[in-house]
Amino acid sequence: MCLVNVILLLVNLNQIQPVKVEKVPLHLQHIAYFLVNKMYSFVSFRIINKTTRFYHTKSSLLRPVQFISNNKMLTNTAISQNEEKEIFMNTLPIITETILKNPKFTELPGVGSWMKKVLEYNVGSGKKSRGLATVYSYKMIEKPDNITEESLRLACIMGWCVEMLHSYLLVLDDIMDHAITRRGVPCWYRLPEVGLGAINDSVLMHMSMFYILKTYFSQKSCYANILDTFHNSLLNTSIGQHLDYTMAHHVENNYNYFTMEQYMAIVQHKTAYYTFSLPVCLGLYLANKMDIEMHKKAKEITIEIGNFFQIQDDFIDCFGDESVTGKIGTDIQEGKCTWLAVMALQRCNASQRSEFEQCYGSKDPDNVQRIKRLYETLELPCLYKEYEQKLYESLEQRVKSEHSGELISSTIGLRLFETIYKRKG
Ligand SMILES: *[C@@H]1O[C@H](CO)[C@@H](O)[C@H](O)[C@H]1NC(C)=O
Ligand SMILES: *[C@@H]1O[C@H](CO)[C@@H](O)[C@H](O)[C@H]1NC(C)=O
Ligand SMILES: *[C@@H]1O[C@H](CO)[C@@H](O)[C@H](O)[C@H]1NC(C)=O
Ligand SMILES: *[C@@H]1O[C@H](CO)[C@@H](O)[C@H](O)[C@H]1NC(C)=O
Ligand SMILES: *[C@@H]1O[C@H](CO)[C@@H](O)[C@H](O)[C@H]1NC(C)=O
Repeated sequence: MCLVNVILLLVNLNQIQPVKVEKVPLHLQHIAYFLVNKMYSFVSFRIINKTTRFYHTKSSLLRPVQFISNNKMLTNTAISQNEEKEIFMNTLPIITETILKNPKFTELPGVGSWMKKVLEYNVGSGKKSRGLATVYSYKMIEKPDNITEESLRLACIMGWCVEMLHSYLLVLDDIMDHAITRRGVPCWYRLPEVGLGAINDSVLMHMSMFYILKTYFSQKSCYANILDTFHNSLLNTSIGQHLDYTMAHHVENNYNYFTMEQYMAIVQHKTAYYTFSLPVCLGLYLANKMDIEMHKKAKEITIEIGNFFQIQDDFIDCFGDESVTGKIGTDIQEGKCTWLAVMALQRCNASQRSEFEQCYGSKDPDNVQRIKRLYETLELPCLYKEYEQKLYESLEQRVKSEHSGELISSTIGLRLFETIYKRKG
C-alpha cells in the first residue's frame, strides 16, 4: 500500500522538479552535499529521539565521506567546524565598527548606540548557517593558493551581509506572524522599548548591509553582480512571502489552490533562493567565478536542496518533538500551505476532505489533533520518510559516481572533509 503511494508521490515530485543533476560540476556537488548534510544534521539531531530512522539515513549519507577519509593526505591542516565558526564570529566586531563609523551614525550618537543594540540582538545570535555557508562555499571554490587571511576575512564579511539580510527578514516576519519568541528570546518587536519601531530598525539593518557591501566590495569587478544577487534574492523572497501570505488568507475553506505546483513555487521563492542559492553564488563571485552557466547550475542544485529542506521543516512543524525542537508548530493553526496539507488533499476521500476543510486553520487544539490524525491515517509520515530516503540515495549516488581515484584527493574533497567532517572522524 505504502509503496504504491510512494511511487505516486515521486511521480508527482518529478513533474515539478525536473532538475538534471548529472552534468553538475564536481565542486558544486560537494557544496550541495555539504549543505544537505550540514543543515540536515542539525535538524535530524533535534528529532532523533522521535524517529531513530533519521539517524540511519544520515549515516548512509556519510559513507562517501568516510571513503574520502581513507586518503593519506588528510592529516595536515585540518580546521574544525568550531574554529571556522569562531573565525566567523570574530569578524562581527568589524561589521559593527564599520557601521558605527558611518558618519550618519557618528553625527547622532543616540542612533549609533541604538544601532549597536539592534545588531547585537538580531544579527549576533542564531546558528549562522547562511553566513557560514557563504564562507564554506568560497573556500571550496577558491584555489587554495588564492585563499589568504584577507580573502577569508572578506568572505566572512560577505557572510555577515547574508546574515544581516536574514535578520532583516526575520524581524519583519515575526511582526507579520505575531511570533512571540525567536532563538529563545522575545522577538525584537516585543521588547517594550522597540514595538513597531522594529520596522524602522529592520530598514536600518538592511541599509547597513549595503553600506558594508559598498565599504568592502565596491572596488571589486564583481560588485555589480553581488548587488544584483542580493537585490534579486530579496525580490524572490518577497514574491515567495506574498504567495505564502495570500495562500494563508485565501477564501475561507477553499483549498483548491493547495497544489504541489503552488507549494513548490512558494518554497522556492521564499526560502530556497536566499538560504541556499545566495551563499553559494556569493562564494562563486568571491572566487571570481562569473561564468553564467556555472551560476545556473549552482542555482539548480541548491534549489533542489532548498525545496527538500522546506518539506522537512513542514514535517517537523507537525510531527517534530517540541521538547527537542524548542518551538511549537503553528502551521495547521495558521492554515499554511504545507507539504503535508497538499499531500493530504491529494489523497483524501470526500469525507476526509470535509473534515480537513472543517478543522484546518483553526486554533482549537481538538481540530489540530484531528488534522494530525488525518495525516497519519493518510500515511503521510511514511510517505515523507520514503521521500527523504530517496533524496539521500540520489545525492549519495551522485557524489559516489563522481569519486574517481583522482578526484578523491582533490583539494575540494579534502577541504570539504576538513571543514565539515573532521570532528566526526
Ligand atoms: C535522546 O535520547 C538519549 C538517550 O535516550 C539521550 O541521551 C539524549 O540526550 C536525547 N537527545 C535529545 C536531543 O533529547
Ligand atoms: C587568484 O587566481 C587567479 C587565477 O589563477 C589569479 O588571476 C588571481 O590574481 C588570483 N587572485 C589573488 C587574490 O591571488
Ligand atoms: C519610523 O520612522 C518614522 C520617521 O521618523 C516615524 O514617523 C515612524 O513613526 C517610525 N515608526 C515607528 C513604528 O517607530
Ligand atoms: C529569482 O528567481 C528567478 C526565477 O523566478 C530565478 O531565475 C533567479 O535566478 C532568482 N534570482 C536569484 C538571485 O536567486
Ligand atoms: C474515507 O476513508 C476513510 C478511511 O479509510 C473511511 O473510513 C471512510 O469511510 C471513507 N469515506 C468515504 C466517503 O469514502
